[in-house]
Amino acid sequence: MEKISASVRRVEQELKSAGKANYIDDITMPDMLHAAMVRSTKARAKINGITLPELPEGYTAVDYRDVPGKNEVHIVKDDTPVFAEETVEFIGDPILMIVGPDEKTVRRLAQQTVVDYEELTPVLNVHDSETVFFHESLNKGDVDQAMVTADDIYTETFRTAMQEQAYLETNGMIAYPENGGMTVTGSLQCPYYVKNALKQALGSEDVRVVHQYTGGAFGGKEDYPSVVACQAAVAAQKTGKPVKYVLTREEDLAFTPKRHPAEITYQAAIKNGKITGVDITLTYDAGAYTTLSLVVLQRGTICANGVYNFENLRAVGDSYKTNTCPGGAFRGFGAPQVFFSVETFMDHLADHLGRNRLDFKLEYLVKQGDQTSTQGRFHQPVVVPQMVEKLDKMSEFKKKRALYSKPQTGRYRRGIGFSQIFHGCGFTGNGERDLIKAVCGLRKSADGRVLILAANTEMGQGIITTFSKIVAQTLDIPLDQIDYPKPDTNVMPDSGPTVASRSIMMVGNLLEKAAKKLKENWQDGVEQEFIERYHHPEFLIPFDAENFLGDAYPAYSWSVNAIEVEVDTLTGQVKTLHADGVYDIGVPIDEVISAGQMEGGISQGIGYASSEVIGYDARGRIRNNHFSDYIIPTSADIGEINVDFVNNPYEFGPYGAKGAGEMPIVGPAPAYIDALEQALGTNIRHIPFTQEDVMRVLKEEEQL
Ligand code: MOS
Repeated sequence: MEKISASVRRVEQELKSAGKANYIDDITMPDMLHAAMVRSTKARAKINGITLPELPEGYTAVDYRDVPGKNEVHIVKDDTPVFAEETVEFIGDPILMIVGPDEKTVRRLAQQTVVDYEELTPVLNVHDSETVFFHESLNKGDVDQAMVTADDIYTETFRTAMQEQAYLETNGMIAYPENGGMTVTGSLQCPYYVKNALKQALGSEDVRVVHQYTGGAFGGKEDYPSVVACQAAVAAQKTGKPVKYVLTREEDLAFTPKRHPAEITYQAAIKNGKITGVDITLTYDAGAYTTLSLVVLQRGTICANGVYNFENLRAVGDSYKTNTCPGGAFRGFGAPQVFFSVETFMDHLADHLGRNRLDFKLEYLVKQGDQTSTQGRFHQPVVVPQMVEKLDKMSEFKKKRALYSKPQTGRYRRGIGFSQIFHGCGFTGNGERDLIKAVCGLRKSADGRVLILAANTEMGQGIITTFSKIVAQTLDIPLDQIDYPKPDTNVMPDSGPTVASRSIMMVGNLLEKAAKKLKENWQDGVEQEFIERYHHPEFLIPFDAENFLGDAYPAYSWSVNAIEVEVDTLTGQVKTLHADGVYDIGVPIDEVISAGQMEGGISQGIGYASSEVIGYDARGRIRNNHFSDYIIPTSADIGEINVDFVNNPYEFGPYGAKGAGEMPIVGPAPAYIDALEQALGTNIRHIPFTQEDVMRVLKEEEQL
């Protein structure tokens, strides 16, 4: 273990465990108003008119006519309105907000507001959609030729469902007029994203965003906080008072962006038992607005071949509009859909060819120096084979796999499954160089305390601690001499958003550089400041975003997972007995924090594979809007989790670190499904594969 990996106590731990860390709903301000939203109850309609109840004194309705700037929330394309104007596009589309001093009263008034709709036929199924939001494709070699010369063609289609981020704290903001401008504070990942959205909606440059402690995000606070912030700020502007808008759990579950449902078809050309080409078609359901669907589709398309080197490859992806809850950012960002699909496809193809699944998959695994799907390179060592060995020791995978392949009798049946995946660290393509252009640094005060100047947010992932460790170790000073307060756009430079597994690798690297300079130039008793800007590593093959050519990512993190399940054939219940993972995140900046991320990702990934269902009714409404009917796994559902790391330092990461945040959710679903397939003796092509699905398989088996 490297010195930097040795675990320390989290900087904000005492505050949080003592209940002294304030979250947005803990905060009140003098004269503060509460807000409740009137939302569309139709999936697609024209608004003919709105009848408000009589509003008591001090209560106000706020709608699109009150938006001082553009009625568009700036995300990528600006099609999300702050408040709906003439039409509504999904059940939950915000129409107007009632604000006033009493929380219960605003909710009652919102409920009493009557919207007169002219209903239009909604598009609820992606196959009925004629609106393509985004189209992406990549091409390597000659797939068509491979298909023509094949002696066998193997095709399969996979479906993955919508998934909710299920953060503990719902979305929420307080907006308040301050010094002639507008300040917004709340639960969010990206202070400058929110700031830029506010500038456009308010038509003003005089905007400040301040972070508050954030109770989980998982991507769910990457795009949506810009929406909530604009709504609260428009209300605060109209009333001249602070306005708090915190979503209820019901609203947050049913109306905020989630993981895109996807349908992915793989077609492999086979010649003499070898894969000679793979053709992939991806369909992502983007829901009512575009949010971040472009970048989600890009990552999905680029990663659709998984960790495999296919000489001839084509991937074509489309993202369609439907009148359902928008898809948005969620940990993994388009990748969990394709890695479930490609891993399961490779398993089934191995069966089809009479090969051992693990051996077959290792045979096609990329190596250092190989081409990526976009004809970039895997520049750094790929240590997956060593990781598989380590995993096998940890989980007894091979032994158990052989054991469970023998006929199982009795009520309980077991299976063990495997997956291997990567996660491309940081923004896709030229995002870091052309869009983000991170700026961050350090300011030493005369008394020797060191302030981290960055705008990345703590949302439970431990960034205050990991950033502080990087700086403290480089300066060779105690951790408690470092300060990293909650980002405020009036104080902190724009180090970029807290997304895309980029914070440690990109921003941490710049902080390490700043710390080296400060150390070299350290002068006692004076204030000193060192600012660093992002430079694109020169070894990278420039990315052509038009044609998807070049290095899509500077570095990749890797994981291998082994998951063991037990099926109760009487009830259809599946218990995860063991979930093991070996991870290459370069060098862990803190072993306990990193392991926590991996364990959380395993649970979230098993939920994705097994129990997390978003239930739409025939009218397009999400019916399960509580954690009593949106089922995330608990510790009772998952037995033992074992996590281990390999060191594989990355030259351009701080102390060799690469991205770690998103990757752990990607591998569990295919490993879980592989295990379940073994236990049930059937092939599975969709997730989540629920208890009801298991029951169906068992019933069919009975009837044979
Ligand atoms: Mo993310 S899904 O890059 O916050």
